Parts: sequence; C-alpha cells; structure tokens
Amino acid sequence: MLHEKTNLKKILIAVAKGRILDEALNLLKDVGVKVSDSEMKSRKLKIKTNRANVDLLVVRAADVPTYVDYGAADIGITGKDVLLESDTDGYYEPLDLKISKCRLCAAGLNKTRPDLPVLRVATKYPRVANNYYQGIGIQAEIITLYGSMELAPIVGLADEIVDLVDTGKTLKANNLSVIDDIKDISSRLIVNKASLKVKPFEINDIIDALQILIKGKDG
Ligand code: PRP
Repeated sequence: MLHEKTNLKKILIAVAKGRILDEALNLLKDVGVKVSDSEMKSRKLKIKTNRANVDLLVVRAADVPTYVDYGAADIGITGKDVLLESDTDGYYEPLDLKISKCRLCAAGLNKTRPDLPVLRVATKYPRVANNYYQGIGIQAEIITLYGSMELAPIVGLADEIVDLVDTGKTLKANNLSVIDDIKDISSRLIVNKASLKVKPFEINDIIDALQILIKGKDG
C-alpha cells in the first residue's frame, strides 16, 4: 500500500490499453490507486484516481515507451514485447509485473518450417524477428504489419509470422501452428530516468508497493 502523505508530487502513469489494462488496474487498486467505474466509462484518456497526485494515461501499448521516454509520463505499464522493439535509454525497467503473460512465437501453416533460401516473415515485431532468425542462421525477409498477422500465411503474403500467442485460439481459428517459442512475455513497469531523480519518494513508493504485492502473489 502506498504511503499517505501530503504535498506529494504529481505522478502520471501511462497504462497500455487492451489486454493489459484490466490486470494493471487491478494491481494498482491493490496498492491503493483506484479508478472509479464512471471515470473508466467516461472514455477520457487522462483518468483521475482516488489519489490526488496520481493520474493515469490510457494509451496504445506500443506508445507507452514513447510517453515515458520523453517524460510525458513518469511511469509506464506495457508488455515486454513492446519494450523489446523500443530503441531508447530514457527509462529504467525495474519491475516485472507478472501479468498479461503470453509468448512470442513463430507460427505458420505447418508445425515444421519450410526449407527456403529466404523465409518471408510477417510481424509487428521486426527487431525481435530479425534477432531471432539471425540467431538460428535463417535468412529472413521481414514484412512489418500492424495487426491481423495471422492472415499473412493464409493469403501467401508470408511463409510464417512472429506474433503473440496467449490462449492459442487465434492461431487455431486460422489453421496456423506454433513452429517455435521465441520468448516468454509479461507486462513490465518502466520509469522515466529524470522523473526518478526529481520524484524519488513518489516513484519508489509505487515500485516498492507493487513489488511487495507481486512477491506476495508469487509466494
Ligand atoms: C494478439 C496477437 C494475436 C492474439 C493471440 O493480438 O496479435 O492476434 O492476441 O491471442 P490468443 O492466443 O489468445 O488467441 P491482440 O488481441 O493483443 O490485438 P492486436 O492485434 O491489436 O495486437
């Protein structure tokens, strides 16, 4: 639970919308940062919490690192998949929140990879994909898409995809199979480096409270 104190400095937390949001809000609630139903339903993107000094920004998962890198948000919550694609040193990543767990996988029409001189791969994770195929010595042409990657092998745009797999239902519905697991993914808390210097009490209080909560859930 966060400390009760007056004169706390304002903290903005950028939270990824979509699959992460509900679980992130639950974690924040458990450390005493609560958002009312009416505020959530208001469609506002800057949301007040029960803490006068803490507001939330609800943004696209891939935009969270940008908000935090530039210091527009002090803290961010987004997936490790997104962080692996982000190329900045403006933030620390002090906490694995252990929520929204899934896997980054290579998948295709068959469980085995076709033997091709150059493999065409559709993904919204070009950096991860490049590293992965380089690491296993396969020459790959990466085609960047921003969603519905599962379509690419079906229509012949790509030989395989690199994408998140959670329940596996999307792959199954599109007759695709996992070829290889690339990385386990979960949501992380990131902190703007300058904010940590300027607002150490407020930010460390949130990190510490979440860390204790997560340890408790794990143990
Ligand atoms: C992800 C991913 C898959 C789906 C996998 O998309 O791109 O399409 O989830 O989940 P499953 O294994 O439980 O079926 P997401 O819903 O995050 O939306 P996005 O397309 O905007 O990334």
